[in-house]
Amino acid sequence: MSLSNRLIPVVLAAAAVVNAKLYTAMAQLPGLNYDFVIIGGGAAGNVVANRLTENPNFQVLVIEAGPSNEGILEEQVPALALNLYAEDSPYLWPYMTTPQVGANNASQRFLRGRILGGGTGVNEMFYSRGSSDDFDRYANVSGDQGWSWDAMLPYFLKNEKWVAPADHHNETGQFDPKFHNFTGMNSVSLAGYQWPMFSRVIQTTQEMPDEFPFNLDYNSGNTIGVGWVQYTIGNGTRSSSASSYLGPQFMNRTNLHVLVNTQVSRVLPATSGKGKTPHFNRVEFSQDLKSALFVATASKEVILSAGAIGTPHILMNSGIGDKKTLTKLGIKSLIDLPSVGQNFTEQPLVPNSWFANSTDTYENFNNETQLDIDLAMWNQSRTGPLVSPIGQHLAFLRFPKENSSIFETREDPSAGPNTGHYELEIANGIGLLTPIPAGDGHFISVQTVCAAPASRGSVTLNTTHPSPFNSPLIDPALLMDSYDLFALKVAIQQAVKFLSADAWQGYVLEPLDDLAQALTSDEALEAYIRQTVVANEHPVGTAAMSPKNADWGVVDPDLLMKKATGLRIIDASIMPYVPSGHSQAPTYAVAERGADLVKATWA
Ligand SMILES: Cc1cc2nc3c(=O)[nH]c(=O)nc-3n(C[C@H](O)[C@H](O)[C@H](O)COP(=O)(O)OP(=O)(O)OC[C@H]3O[C@@H](n4cnc5c(N)ncnc54)[C@H](O)[C@@H]3O)c2cc1C
Ligand SMILES: *[C@@H]1O[C@H](CO)[C@@H](O)[C@H](O)[C@H]1NC(C)=O
Ligand SMILES: *[C@@H]1O[C@H](CO)[C@@H](O)[C@H](O)[C@H]1NC(C)=O
Ligand SMILES: *[C@@H]1O[C@H](CO)[C@@H](O)[C@H](O)[C@H]1NC(C)=O
Ligand SMILES: *[C@@H]1O[C@H](CO)[C@@H](O)[C@H](O)[C@H]1NC(C)=O
Ligand SMILES: *[C@@H]1O[C@H](CO)[C@@H](O)[C@H](O)[C@H]1NC(C)=O
Ligand SMILES: *[C@@H]1O[C@H](CO)[C@@H](O)[C@H](O)[C@H]1NC(C)=O
Ligand SMILES: *[C@@H]1O[C@H](CO)[C@@H](O)[C@H](O)[C@H]1NC(C)=O
Ligand SMILES: *[C@@H]1O[C@H](CO)[C@@H](O)[C@H](O)[C@H]1NC(C)=O
Ligand SMILES: *[C@@H]1O[C@H](CO)[C@@H](O)[C@H](O)[C@H]1NC(C)=O
Ligand SMILES: *[C@@H]1O[C@H](CO)[C@@H](O)[C@H](O)[C@H]1NC(C)=O
Ligand SMILES: *[C@@H]1O[C@H](CO)[C@@H](O)[C@H](O)[C@H]1NC(C)=O
Ligand SMILES: *[C@@H]1O[C@H](CO)[C@@H](O)[C@H](O)[C@H]1NC(C)=O
Repeated sequence: MSLSNRLIPVVLAAAAVVNAKLYTAMAQLPGLNYDFVIIGGGAAGNVVANRLTENPNFQVLVIEAGPSNEGILEEQVPALALNLYAEDSPYLWPYMTTPQVGANNASQRFLRGRILGGGTGVNEMFYSRGSSDDFDRYANVSGDQGWSWDAMLPYFLKNEKWVAPADHHNETGQFDPKFHNFTGMNSVSLAGYQWPMFSRVIQTTQEMPDEFPFNLDYNSGNTIGVGWVQYTIGNGTRSSSASSYLGPQFMNRTNLHVLVNTQVSRVLPATSGKGKTPHFNRVEFSQDLKSALFVATASKEVILSAGAIGTPHILMNSGIGDKKTLTKLGIKSLIDLPSVGQNFTEQPLVPNSWFANSTDTYENFNNETQLDIDLAMWNQSRTGPLVSPIGQHLAFLRFPKENSSIFETREDPSAGPNTGHYELEIANGIGLLTPIPAGDGHFISVQTVCAAPASRGSVTLNTTHPSPFNSPLIDPALLMDSYDLFALKVAIQQAVKFLSADAWQGYVLEPLDDLAQALTSDEALEAYIRQTVVANEHPVGTAAMSPKNADWGVVDPDLLMKKATGLRIIDASIMPYVPSGHSQAPTYAVAERGADLVKATWA
């Protein structure tokens, strides 16, 4: 999630470089018949494309709605990622949420990458796998031990290429090498620039070890504590699924075709149906988003990797979803699966900012002269303050004992004891969307997240205009369950406690007005949370996996669509609960396993 509301004053560069196997126009494509057609070139889609084309006998087409990732400066420079979130960004879907009743009825922007790389091309690059409990719960809920932490760890490793930080500082004591792979695909590294506040974070863990213990590596399966952030960054540059899994040596494969600027409208069943189980082998798409619909054919499988919003949207447009609802909208029902688009799970986030007695914060980038100097340094040597995004320490924490009595009356939504109830993201600048006070200030912020929310939302079709080219209705149901509000209250109280350590004496000044007001009463705190809460951009659950004969869910544990053949879903939407960390690493691991499941089917 973005951690600042200030766009850094750099002009969006135009993308122009076209790779040999990257097609921008449908007319250039050599053909429309493939073994596999992958819908969406995001985190998951590009992993699957890479792994399937390891077999030279598999012809693979990837169809991506957004443009190529090449030649976009703010996509590459980590600290410039905020610029990708401009209102009219060409790299995002134009999504808004439905009015959020839990957030004073506000309709909010809902950021989704629309670029080759998907979320990994626009995200804040936090590399966080979630807890071992998260995956053990996936195994329990799906009835497939293949989704357990122990079984998934090799897939996390297969994805990861740990590299030195941009400044080549000594990493000892900042991560545990035994949980990492140094020869995988996707670059991961520690912060490559040292801000003075870092030492105060570590000092706090020494001062308050009971409440805020140091965790050497939050990616070990046990997330609890405060740790150094690991980012999907290599050589001071964003590592996305496009730059890693679709790197030049892979785009060179003659059996891999990638078509960008192209939106899929529907998946279609075989024209000559055998029996009553629909067999999906065709993908309908458009380049002008109105008409001119083309169809590509997959002789083996159609793989849907359009993400937690795009995937249920395409399914419902295709007649896969709740039969009654779709029929009412005039869409012919092909498979009655009421879970499509339901159980949408998202983490609510509240940013909190304080004035800081410092001149070394991200606010320096608002000085254009300084920014030019920093950018020149990045350009020349991939060093300097632009090599890391904002937010350099993460804490995943359980409620303190005095707040745990809530579980006497309701179930704990977190997956287990290795899992945070809440997360703190400690950042060297003002918080996300926080109105900037008058005058030139420097700030520190702690973003508070309900890591394991109880609320469940939905993705549904626009009932008046249910077109594949119109946005779906996105309802993350922020704070609809009162537990999530409670969790954020505790998180904010704990953030205040964190910054009350001696380590911050003389550094953290007063909170910004809205936070100061919030801390005066329980009612004020609630009002502040409802006013400032946003989605953490980690949606999952909209095409959840469930046991083979369950009366809910969308895919079986092998990710094949229920009640159909030929169609598999491999992306974040299959996770039945949101991982308690950030969602890109879990999605990468799901995709690595998903690719193995496909290969096993066609071995
Ligand atoms: C602003 C932002 C910040 C984030 N920060 C972090 C972070 O710091 N750390 C972290 O771990 N996670 C973060 N995430 C979340 C993470 O990026 C996602 O969980 C992850 O990318 C999900 O992968 P996916 O493959 O399911 O979907 P995506 O990566 O979203 O890929 C789906 C792809 O499908 C394409 N698509 C969708 N519909 C269609 C269609 N109809 N036709 C053709 N193509 C289509 C999309 O354009 C997209 O490229 C962030 C996300 C956002 C948006
Ligand atoms: C939100 O909208 C509902 C329904 O329109 C209304 O009843 C409620 O009072 C509104 N809440 C706020 C805080 O405006
Ligand atoms: C998984 O199921 C087992 C057996 O029912 C149970 O002991 C364990 O706590 C569950 N783990 C999670 C993370 O749900
Ligand atoms: C890095 O730091 C550790 C612990 O302080 C030390 O043992 C090690 O020698 C250092 N490595 C290098 C290359 O300086
Ligand atoms: C590291 O990643 C590579 C490439 O994905 C893989 O071949 C290797 O097995 C991985 N190593 C471990 C220890 O998992
Ligand atoms: C890092 O990037 C710089 C600038 O593009 C390049 O010269 C250098 O070779 C890169 N280093 C690595 C290890 O990729
Ligand atoms: C791509 O393939 C060509 C021809 O086989 C080869 O010469 C070139 O080195 C390859 N490029 C990469 C980046 O692998
Ligand atoms: C939502 O998920 C739960 C399991 O977490 C399941 O029991 C329930 O049936 C699901 N609901 C729908 C509508 O899919
Ligand atoms: C902006 O940065 C430049 C270069 O570091 C510095 O000389 C100048 O004083 C700064 N301006 C302000 C207003 O801080
Ligand atoms: C980076 O350096 C190259 C070569 O010196 C130059 O052409 C390019 O304009 C620079 N880009 C930026 C963003 O400064
Ligand atoms: C958590 O417990 C502390 C100490 O009893 C209390 O001050 C605080 O209000 C509690 N938080 C919530 C959200 O109830
Ligand atoms: C449905 O789509 C129409 C046409 O794009 C739009 O005007 C309307 O606001 C949408 N409805 C909702 C509830 O978003
Ligand atoms: C700000 O920090 C300086 C030392 O860096 C210290 O002398 C000064 O007292 C601090 N100001 C406040 C208001 O704490």
